[in-house]
Amino acid sequence: MTPQQIDELLALDAERLWHPYAPASGGPPPFPVVSAQGVRLQLADGRELIDGMSSWWAAIHGYNHPVMNRAVSEQLSQMAHVMFGGLTHPPAVKLARLLTDLTPAHLERVFFSDSGSVAVEVALKMALQYWQSRGQGQKQRIIALGNGYHGDTFGAMSVCDPVTGMHHLFGDALRPQLFAPSPQCRFDAPCDDAEMETITALLTQHHEEVAAVIVEPVVQGAGGMKFYSPEYLVRLRALCDAFGVLLIYDEIATGFGRTGKLFALEHAGVEPDILCLGKALTGGYMTLAATLCTGNIAETISAGEAGAFMHGPTFMANPLACATAIASIELLLSQPWQRRVRELNEALETGLAPARELANVADVRTLGAIGVIELVEPVDMRQVQPMFVERGVWVRPFGRLVYAMPPFIMNSDDCATLTAAMVDTVAAIGPG
Ligand SMILES: Cc1ncc(COP(=O)(O)O)c(C=O)c1O
Repeated sequence: MTPQQIDELLALDAERLWHPYAPASGGPPPFPVVSAQGVRLQLADGRELIDGMSSWWAAIHGYNHPVMNRAVSEQLSQMAHVMFGGLTHPPAVKLARLLTDLTPAHLERVFFSDSGSVAVEVALKMALQYWQSRGQGQKQRIIALGNGYHGDTFGAMSVCDPVTGMHHLFGDALRPQLFAPSPQCRFDAPCDDAEMETITALLTQHHEEVAAVIVEPVVQGAGGMKFYSPEYLVRLRALCDAFGVLLIYDEIATGFGRTGKLFALEHAGVEPDILCLGKALTGGYMTLAATLCTGNIAETISAGEAGAFMHGPTFMANPLACATAIASIELLLSQPWQRRVRELNEALETGLAPARELANVADVRTLGAIGVIELVEPVDMRQVQPMFVERGVWVRPFGRLVYAMPPFIMNSDDCATLTAAMVDTVAAIGPG
């Protein structure tokens, strides 16, 4: 694009568009991107950026992948979309089969929806309708964790961290849920009794009104990029069983290899009653999410007063998205992806290590294909975002976190460039 075209695009963008978590006007201007290939984003002015974000955890195979492109065009030539009420189609059936084969055996049913937030809404509604059908309609509250993030719709927001999720802005519109502290036990450490004290107390006091506990297993993503001990999940499963409460895992960010396991639940070896998937489900090509539940939950809900699960999005099980998801999962499984993620982990670990010496850095941590520099003070996005672009990388920090979760196809040279840019930028910000 010519400089004049870029100016016009940005002027129209500033006038007409609203970007995520941004003011309508006066925010830092976005960077126009015109194409993407492999791990590189091409900006309108011709610059290329190495992508450290996988478009918010999703583009695990990188961009413009021939296998993925083929899957989209083949499905497009058959049918882009058809309603799912009263109809079914091969991509939905095949994807449901794949997902139930890859996840714990007792998760037998798949409910498709459009986005991660809606998959969480569906999970919460399933939990409530399950207890309703069992004659325990008073079980309507949810226990969630501090630092948790589950999406931006009202139900999902109600189980996000109340402070970082700014619950006070929405007053009584948000259902008041119960919160236990974010786990403090580190990923590679055991989890002791003290860690479970508050959640045990909450369950002891409220179990008769609690439908489910919802957690992001092992990695708390957008609420703090924290990694915690799988042993926490083992103890949590035992507590949920003891108190008769369902357990929901939100693997929207962690699913499909990001933590080094296909699903983060495999680190702990304990299983949820309901599982939410999204983001990398379609390799970042299309918006699609899935909520899986046990056969017992599905049958119980179906035998209840409504005789059905009360949800049905217009674009449910969109065939294009399902076909893309099948291609993405098959592509992932056809490669030595565990080795790739391990290599990326080593590259992130080595590349980010020098940040440990910086005075403005509180912590550096990596897990699977996730690398995090936690600063002492929040970063100023207006200052920092152009610094990354000048260094030829795309990294989008938030709060005190400068982090990367690259596409799995990133080679070691590009990863070294990415991590060096992160360390240099954090060093250049200085102690604040
Ligand atoms: C763990 C988790 N749950 C839910 C969501 C919401 O997904 P979506 O943005 O697709 O609605 C996100 C998004 O970042 C997430 O990380």
